[in-house]
Amino acid sequence: MSNASTIRCLITAGPTREFIDPVRFISNPSTGKMGFAIAEAAVEAGWTVDLIAGPVSLPEPDDVILYPVVTAEEMYHQVDALFDACDILIMTAAVSDFRPVTQHAQKEKKGDASMSIEFERTIDILKTVCERKAHQTVVGFAAETNNVVEYAKKKLEAKNLDWIVANKVGESGAGFAADTNEVLLIAADGSSAKLGPTTKAAIAKELVQLVTPTMS
Ligand code: CTP
Repeated sequence: MSNASTIRCLITAGPTREFIDPVRFISNPSTGKMGFAIAEAAVEAGWTVDLIAGPVSLPEPDDVILYPVVTAEEMYHQVDALFDACDILIMTAAVSDFRPVTQHAQKEKKGDASMSIEFERTIDILKTVCERKAHQTVVGFAAETNNVVEYAKKKLEAKNLDWIVANKVGESGAGFAADTNEVLLIAADGSSAKLGPTTKAAIAKELVQLVTPTMS
């Protein structure tokens, strides 16, 4: 744990990629903008920031320690390595839930390739590290297209979180890729605060203030 004056924050951002062969993967439309905005707001608040990012095309924020990763497995190992030392984990990453059972070492030739791919679940990073949650405050994101608040509350409980950000995705002006967002920040005690619609930078600033852990 950091000393009382410095909050050490671990943020994950962006998508992960799960490879079928060296030139093909499954992923999702996350761009990392929300996570990077939170990293910048956290630095502005005086926090020490470790930022674990999947493949994104964003400039590296000033004054963060950046850990680039590609797959869910790599992201898990990096979160696992840094979790015990952090005071707050903010998990904005859109982790791929599935990966191909077989990752071919060489490019599959289309004439020979099977038309079906067998998938297996990736590790649930948040759920796994929260099983050993001690002093940390943990904030998850719930990317939902429907029943947003209901599903977000279920995740808050199932993953042993302190906060969850219910984020409707799949519409313009919110969620993946947009510069603006509108979310509901829900606490473990059931209270909530609506943030936005506004820029991701403004949401990030407000979010950082609201989830600031009390340091002893
Ligand atoms: N998450 C994670 N590891 C995964 C999948 C998700 O740590 N393998 C985290 C995300 O970073 C996010 C939270 O769990 O903070 C919720 O992610 P989301 O994709 O909304 O939900 P899932 O848990 O994947 O559940 P579902 O796909 O059924 O909605």
